[in-house]
Amino acid sequence: MMSSPSLFWLFVLLVFYLAASASPALLFQGFNWESSKKEGGWYNSLKNLVPDLANAGITHVWLPPPSQSAAQQGYLPGRLYDLNASSYGNQDELKHLIDAFHQKGIKCLADIVINHRTAEKQDSRGIWCIFEGGTPDERLDWGPSFICRDDTEFSDGMGNLDTGGDFNNTPDIDHLNPRVQKELSDWMNWLKSDIGFDGWRFDFVLGYDPSITKIYMDRTLPNFAVGENWDSLSYGQDKKPNPNQDAHRHKLAEWVNAAGGAVTAFDFTTKGILQAAVEGELWRLKDSNGMPPGLIGLQPSSAVTFIDNHDTGSTQKIWPFPSDKVMQGYAYILTHPGVPSIFYDHFFDWGLKEEIGKLTAIRARNQINEKSSVEILASDSDLYVAKIDDGVIMKIGPRFEVGNLVPPNYQIATSGQDYCVWEKK
Ligand SMILES: *[C@@H]1O[C@H](CO)[C@@H](O)[C@H](O)[C@H]1NC(C)=O
Repeated sequence: MMSSPSLFWLFVLLVFYLAASASPALLFQGFNWESSKKEGGWYNSLKNLVPDLANAGITHVWLPPPSQSAAQQGYLPGRLYDLNASSYGNQDELKHLIDAFHQKGIKCLADIVINHRTAEKQDSRGIWCIFEGGTPDERLDWGPSFICRDDTEFSDGMGNLDTGGDFNNTPDIDHLNPRVQKELSDWMNWLKSDIGFDGWRFDFVLGYDPSITKIYMDRTLPNFAVGENWDSLSYGQDKKPNPNQDAHRHKLAEWVNAAGGAVTAFDFTTKGILQAAVEGELWRLKDSNGMPPGLIGLQPSSAVTFIDNHDTGSTQKIWPFPSDKVMQGYAYILTHPGVPSIFYDHFFDWGLKEEIGKLTAIRARNQINEKSSVEILASDSDLYVAKIDDGVIMKIGPRFEVGNLVPPNYQIATSGQDYCVWEKK
């Protein structure tokens, strides 16, 4: 029989082993702008793809806004507790989907749309300002005093001033109201306890102050959370992004820090610079300190990198990545620090599952994580080469010859159109 001191040390070893072997986060956006139209329901359809996502090493999947909504994509939610009137499927189907992800060890993020909310009824003046929560009791049953008083389209003037940007056509909710804070936190905790969600993707966080995000973070303690702080880059007269986007990424970092530091932010800076850089301007990928120019070069563990999402790409194409250079984009984000996010469309609809899977395997094998180090070896117009930690070198760009930048003790791990990744032998 083992003496208790050696059992103790065995336990200590086990704890260290578990801590070291937890995979760094790898996010997947599990829907696009058309998913709500899927015949047979999106939740049911996505369930069939869980094994593919587990094989690719995905740790977190971002699911669409789950509640009843005036717009079928879910971004004009009304009865927040009503998950049966969603065009993605009903509450039971959602729970089955989340169960299927959990069985493969994948955590699920709910898309939290709380800046604004669709009213259920008009008041006596004909203004849409009576909200219903979707429960038999009064939870989330709100009136006009819960609307920001500067939202003149809807307000009766009793709510606080909006702490952020206005959302058109739908009432902006007064998040300084303690009942709003309590009832929304309760609803999010219900999404965790009763539905199975593990974390959040916060929609349109520019709509309210970061101190508000901090309140919801503190009261719901998500396993992982990321905010959509989508601001325009600065552009020159040539209509291209200015080379220096420091102000843009600093705003992202300041938002994360003001929101308490536990939430992360989509790295819109990296997306904007990267999609300009792959058009023959790869010099953009090095800042004045010799670091990556996005949030990943400033505060990498707060950054969620991505190529496109349901707004920037998909059928909306508000700000799309050049479609013929998407794999160069993935070669960059999947070898660099930050938490990379893979988009449903690229992985499944575009047939890039195998190609992207080779990059995620390299990331996992070499334990590249959100805090990995980057040494930029070349950043010319037609060639970008970087060394990540001490085991991986990657290049993107049309120039084939990388000269002596890749030492002989590195071998090719994967390659494709205008990209290559080497691993140390
Ligand atoms: C949705 O359906 C589930 C399962 O049938 C039920 O338990 C739940 O109460 C329903 N929710 C609403 C808001 O009707």
